[in-house]
Amino acid sequence: MAKALVELVDVRRAYRFGDAVVNALAGLDLRIERGSFVGVIGRSGSGKSTLLNILGGLDRPTRGELLIEGQPLLARRSDELARYRRETVGFIFQSFNLIPHLTALENVALPLRLSGKFGFFERRRRAKELLEEVGLGHRVGHKPAELSGGERQRVAIARALANDPSLLLADEPTGNLDSKTAEEIMGMIQALHAKGDRTVVLVTHDREQAERYCQRVIVLEDGHLKADRPARGGATPAEAAPPGEDAGLVDSGAEQVARGDAPGDPHREAIARLEEQLAVLKRRLGDDPPIAEASAGAGGESSGGLVPGDAGTSAAGATDEGSTA
Ligand SMILES: Nc1ncnc2c1ncn2[C@@H]1O[C@H](COP(=O)(O)OP(=O)(O)OP(=O)(O)O)[C@@H](O)[C@H]1O
Ligand SMILES: [Mg+2]
Repeated sequence: MAKALVELVDVRRAYRFGDAVVNALAGLDLRIERGSFVGVIGRSGSGKSTLLNILGGLDRPTRGELLIEGQPLLARRSDELARYRRETVGFIFQSFNLIPHLTALENVALPLRLSGKFGFFERRRRAKELLEEVGLGHRVGHKPAELSGGERQRVAIARALANDPSLLLADEPTGNLDSKTAEEIMGMIQALHAKGDRTVVLVTHDREQAERYCQRVIVLEDGHLKADRPARGGATPAEAAPPGEDAGLVDSGAEQVARGDAPGDPHREAIARLEEQLAVLKRRLGDDPPIAEASAGAGGESSGGLVPGDAGTSAAGATDEGSTA
């Protein structure tokens, strides 16, 4: 059998909460093939985010093994794990997790800076190209608060793509968006999957979304794999969830929207880690001009884009960014 891109072997993740132990993942075996598009559904608290965080190296299992192309990941040195997080994986979160005081361009350039592979102008050029690809070439100089929810998520997608990850992990990426914007974002994620040799794992509470966009759907229940089957495609919700199978194992949208962020949310920790890394970098690279202060540099060409009608945004983007210089 060909090696899976990622394989979980009897993965357990227990949380101690006071005297109680919560088994967020209770012994999960899972293979995710390269190039596949997997949807993860299940009730609130069933372990979906825990699974995604472990797949992305943001969290470590209490027991079990995570294999990346057949090689154990957990035994690697911490700097290798950090490189895996940075270069193999791209994360997209429900709450976008952009750094508020950085512009769209700077947010996208940040992972490029952390990877240390590119110089200042190349980082800018690439970041601008990525923003053009998600249809935001005209918003490069905007900070997150100056963008709509859909635009913020597009910036987050561009940031997730910065280091050209082979594994894209999305945790309820449309959870904070209206249905039309959600469709746009899902169309973009689908295009990203179709375009490259990318593997996508999407956590969603929206079963219809999973059936429609993914190729395979897995259902979690209390940290166990309850179902693992091909997606049913663009079926109606009733067809997609025949009574008696995995019906009842997914919350309604209302239940999901009602809950808040869990304490110790690894997403928050991830962004805090990025902020820390940025601060360290800023101290270390005193000779590197701060991103906001330099000129736009070489304007990137539009690379075809993932959204219709994004041509012609390049010039507008250059002007916009130029005004902040
Ligand atoms: N840091 C933590 N400390 C204690 N328990 C936790 C922690 N993080 C998660 N849990 C518990 O682990 C279980 C699985 O949580 P997880 O966040 O993976 O669920 P989920 O399926 O993503 O839920 P949702 O749909 O609400 O996002 C839950 O019972 C949760 O309360
Ligand atoms: Mg979750």
